[in-house]
Amino acid sequence: MSDHHIQWYPGHMAKARREAKEKLNLVDIVIELVDARLPLASRNPVIEEIIGNKKSLVVLNKADLADPAATQAWIHYFKQSGLEAIAIDAQHNKGIKKVQDYLKEMMSDYFQKQREKGVKDRPIRLMILGIPNVGKSTLINRFVGKNQAQTGNKPGVTKAQRWLKIGRDFELLDTPGILWPKFEDPQTGVKLAISGAIKDSLLYMDDLALSLLDHLQNHYPESISQRYKISSEDVEALSKVDLLLLITQKMGLKEDYDQASLRLINDFRSGKLGAISLELTDKDTEVNE
Ligand code: G4P
Repeated sequence: MSDHHIQWYPGHMAKARREAKEKLNLVDIVIELVDARLPLASRNPVIEEIIGNKKSLVVLNKADLADPAATQAWIHYFKQSGLEAIAIDAQHNKGIKKVQDYLKEMMSDYFQKQREKGVKDRPIRLMILGIPNVGKSTLINRFVGKNQAQTGNKPGVTKAQRWLKIGRDFELLDTPGILWPKFEDPQTGVKLAISGAIKDSLLYMDDLALSLLDHLQNHYPESISQRYKISSEDVEALSKVDLLLLITQKMGLKEDYDQASLRLINDFRSGKLGAISLELTDKDTEVNE
């Protein structure tokens, strides 16, 4: 179940921020989950302010759907800006162990110092934070795996926080922190909508499809020719509008461009167009519309 159809109002944002901060106080490390296909657009606009000085790890999820070269470039980008980053595919349980190893590494100096003071190691306390639909619940399930053991409610805490025990090394808050996506910039909205992170509106499907086609023509032309059996020459030469018309025909949908647009977007979302990133590290090569 995902909750990406909620509408965000200033009151909700303030509440989400407050709840995230409350949870943050309880943990050693926050796992900031983003979508590997659009790592910037899928970051909350005030995430850094919310996280503050807390240790954090950026996890790029849905790496199975993203362009591997772009994902590597994004990891590099985050590292250069001082953030640890790692790519995973939570749905297919890939990279989870690597994340756990990173988390231990991040705490090793602290535990070493504690040991020197005679304090024994304890489980690392974690929370997952991100905008709707980036895969927070999926990651929680993967973390917990089959060996789930809940510690139950802690008395004396007004809003009960439940910890999920993950082996001997980790304790994870059972509900993620949910933050709102970016709205300010229309381009960001388009990318989020294409990815499925924000509510679909059939009205705008053709706009989304045209934006996606523009990006594919520029960066992943072979994805269109292969999926819809359109020659590379046509993919290159046709305007995006003419290309959408041709794709609609190839789908056997005559003039139902809305339906064709929806199918195109769904093909992208499900990975049928291949592994494609909507944001590339070079600013000039982003989805334009
Ligand atoms: P959330 O808690 O952050 O809101 O996200 P959630 O785990 O519900 O995941 C949202 C959708 O993304 C789910 O699809 C989930 O299966 C999918 N997903 C999560 N991680 C990955 C991944 O690494 N790779 C791929 N390909 N998909 C992933 P869904 O159940 O179809 O939900 P929806 O499409 O109805 O939103």
